[in-house]
Amino acid sequence: MAAHNTLLHLRTESGKPLEHRSAITPSTAKALIDDRYILEVEKSDTESSYHRIFADDEFEAVGAKLVPENSWPESNAIIIGLKELPEEEWPISHRMIHFAHCYKGQSGWEKVLSRFPRGGGTLYDLEFLQDETGRRVAAFGYHAGFAGAAVALKAWNWQLSHSADEPFPEIAQFTDGRGYYRNEDELVAQLRQDVLAGEKAAGRKPRAMIMGALGRCGRGACDLLLKAGLPSGNLIKWDLDETRDNPGPYQEIVDSDIFINAIYLTEKIPPFVDFPILDTPSRKLRVVCDVSCDPNSVNNPLPIYTDYTSFTRPTIPVKQKIEGPPLSVISIDHLPSLLPREASEAFSNALLPSLLQLKDIKTARVWSDAEKLFREKCGSLPNGTT
Ligand SMILES: NC(=O)c1ccc[n+]([C@@H]2O[C@H](COP(=O)([O-])OP(=O)(O)OC[C@H]3O[C@@H](n4cnc5c(N)ncnc54)[C@H](O)[C@@H]3O)[C@@H](O)[C@H]2O)c1
Repeated sequence: MAAHNTLLHLRTESGKPLEHRSAITPSTAKALIDDRYILEVEKSDTESSYHRIFADDEFEAVGAKLVPENSWPESNAIIIGLKELPEEEWPISHRMIHFAHCYKGQSGWEKVLSRFPRGGGTLYDLEFLQDETGRRVAAFGYHAGFAGAAVALKAWNWQLSHSADEPFPEIAQFTDGRGYYRNEDELVAQLRQDVLAGEKAAGRKPRAMIMGALGRCGRGACDLLLKAGLPSGNLIKWDLDETRDNPGPYQEIVDSDIFINAIYLTEKIPPFVDFPILDTPSRKLRVVCDVSCDPNSVNNPLPIYTDYTSFTRPTIPVKQKIEGPPLSVISIDHLPSLLPREASEAFSNALLPSLLQLKDIKTARVWSDAEKLFREKCGSLPNGTT
């Protein structure tokens, strides 16, 4: 059998503090190596703020070759990572696979994209890898919803046991200073305790409404809430069928303890909640988790807040004075990082069938489509940037 020995190089996520996820995991590394790929893995310093959740020796044990951190510029492999590269100017001659965030007119997109045509390189953007039906081959949505629901439950419990002037603390306080959970078991065990403590304080378990419950994020949110011990009857699951002929704002949200927004926003829609509907002493709603996280969009269906939050400041209070209990909003745009191990595993496994086609990168549909899109986007670069 002719050897293909396609060379892949997994880079570290240098420049992305608090990022511990990985595009390739030891299990997908093994599948690639078994299929005669040669895999270089950049060493990840466990002391760095962006160290990989998987230890170097887990990769070495399945046959990957460990190489120095940030050595990818010298490699002629296909380079894979997750997040965008650090902001630099030098031309890129490599074939690179990652989320580059430069195809939707994001600020600075020309600088990011123009490095490729200037160096003769190619970008295969992970966000735009699609199957035959046009659906993304791999996404982090499930674990975004899972993690968002977890933070929402914790924030609900916190409110019940602390005064309004004691804000919900940074996530590191619940994870021995790490800022992420080592694995799902650790997170779920803690949440089950939170739900029991909250139940003791409130006299009942919380009711949570999930908007966009049929999507990736929505399904993750529902699964977490059930695993944390909420009865299925405490979950109010809405999707397009419930909102299509029924414009918001919705009393059902005000009557829930927790609201999780997990819709994919494509157009202007009536608000799900607004200040007038929230301003009632009978309001039960205490926590809103906006997994969709579109606070800056003109179409934002949650016009009750404008700021992103983070793992170091997970909640913000709703500023306008409204009657009823405190109301906190969570709007973290990197939620899957709360569970880097499982989030990476799910993402990498979904990506694996496409990775196994990298040996035919020029002809395999998923990769040639990605290259075509890259060329189209390069065609829209302003004169002078290439
Ligand atoms: N915060 C984070 O860390 C994070 C991470 C990943 C994804 N996201 C975001 O989460 C959002 C959802 O992503 P996804 O992958 O779950 O999308 P998805 O397409 O799988 O699911 C979206 C769901 O929303 C439903 N929906 C759309 N409009 C609706 C409406 N008006 N009323 C009720 N339901 C509606 C759809 O029917 C679908 O079931 C996206 O905006 C994505 O960018 C956030």
